Amino acid sequence: MNMETDRIATLTLDDGRTLELPILKGTLGPDVIDIRNLGKAGLFTYDPAFFSTSSCISEITFIDGDVGLLYYRGYPIEQLAENSDFLEVCHLLLNGELPSAEQKAEFTRNITRHTMVHDQLARFLNGFRRDAHPMAVMVGVVGALSAFYHDSLDINNPQHRTVSAHRLLAKVPTIAAMAYKYNVGEPFVYPKNKFSYVENFLYMMFSTPAEDYVPNPILVRALERILILHADHEQNASTSTVRLAGSSGANPFACIASGIAALWGPAHGGANEAALKMLEEIGDVSRVAEYVQGVKDKKYRLMGFGHRVYKNMDPRAKVMRETCYEVLKELKLENNKLFELAMELEKTALNDPYFIERKLYPNVDFYSGIVLRAIGIPTNMFTVIFAVARTIGWVSQWNEMVADVEQKIGRPRQLYRGAVRRDFVPVDKR
Ligand code: CMC
Repeated sequence: MNMETDRIATLTLDDGRTLELPILKGTLGPDVIDIRNLGKAGLFTYDPAFFSTSSCISEITFIDGDVGLLYYRGYPIEQLAENSDFLEVCHLLLNGELPSAEQKAEFTRNITRHTMVHDQLARFLNGFRRDAHPMAVMVGVVGALSAFYHDSLDINNPQHRTVSAHRLLAKVPTIAAMAYKYNVGEPFVYPKNKFSYVENFLYMMFSTPAEDYVPNPILVRALERILILHADHEQNASTSTVRLAGSSGANPFACIASGIAALWGPAHGGANEAALKMLEEIGDVSRVAEYVQGVKDKKYRLMGFGHRVYKNMDPRAKVMRETCYEVLKELKLENNKLFELAMELEKTALNDPYFIERKLYPNVDFYSGIVLRAIGIPTNMFTVIFAVARTIGWVSQWNEMVADVEQKIGRPRQLYRGAVRRDFVPVDKR
């Protein structure tokens, strides 16, 4: 898969040595200097947070942040969000191609029939404190799946990998809904096969033995879009965590649990929760101007605005914005105080030179937070929804890595700045 160009990067060291480093070419995006042989010359590179380092060769997702592009397997995200459904996108990410009608029916049937979890898993979940954060439950219970499915843990067997991928995709929403039900003190709701993937998730979240739940198609479509938009985002922190855990040969359930743990951090999956909290803190439209002034005075940041990679409008945010307006209209929430405030903030930021000059557009999390709130998903479940969506991205990236013949255990180097060699001093002499 290495696509070497005829270009070479020459590194000249101040000790007179010259190193020639091959330059590799991808199908899209910047070329990459292959530094694998630097170690033989007694040198490492220093790149904390991997700002300039490609950790793998991948064929799954492509982002161009300057232009504002996101492709899954070559398909622009806008086209997938408009025309596809989540399970079709999952098939695309996992297998490389959109399914034929027959493949789609088979894939859907397969996932639908794996949505139940072993009943003993409920006992495991019941061991958590009543007020446990649903993300704590997710990290623990998804990891615990490895104790239930010994029959699919041989990672070198492609068939086992497929079965595990399907199990994860099917069961993570069930566990997510169970984490919610446990948190609010309602009984777990078993999945229902007559529903689509997204309908079933909403059903497990919001139905009770006392009251049935009829999924609203506009809300189903909105959640479907949230899942599609968050399904993969190339080598982000949680995906890199999954790959690194998997590089040691760990089983997929343990690897996905490590991804969920990384996602939990506020700098990663917690942004839409933070955006919603900010809106609540502002409290009223009349305070928007004052709050924005505080942002410009650098007292705090506007949560849900700006992005590390996208310096043009995040293509996911464009789609989510449209969905957001659709949902607010459907639920007749346009005049709701919180949503009115959010729209005022959006308008102010999009027209203010401070934000325009710094290319600070509302990001996908600004709108997805509003949509999730409108659907009735509580704030502490926002990151869980992200985990439900990203499971397919993690599994696809993990699968690609395990199948890669060049795959080795991940092992970054370091620049050591600790004490040099010194001899032990007995305690009475210190
Ligand atoms: N509000 C106000 N000013 C901001 C913001 C913001 N949200 N983001 C950046 N700036 C300013 C920053 O103060 C700096 O101004 P100056 O040039 O005067 O010093 C300039 O913009 C560039 O900032 P930066 O820190 O170099 O930008 P970055 O690319 O490193 O930061 C970010 C990216 C996402 C961390 C940041 O925009 C931020 O903190 N946003 C709020 C949190 C948020 O919504 N995060 C979710 C991102 S989407 C999640 C995902 O895709 O996984």
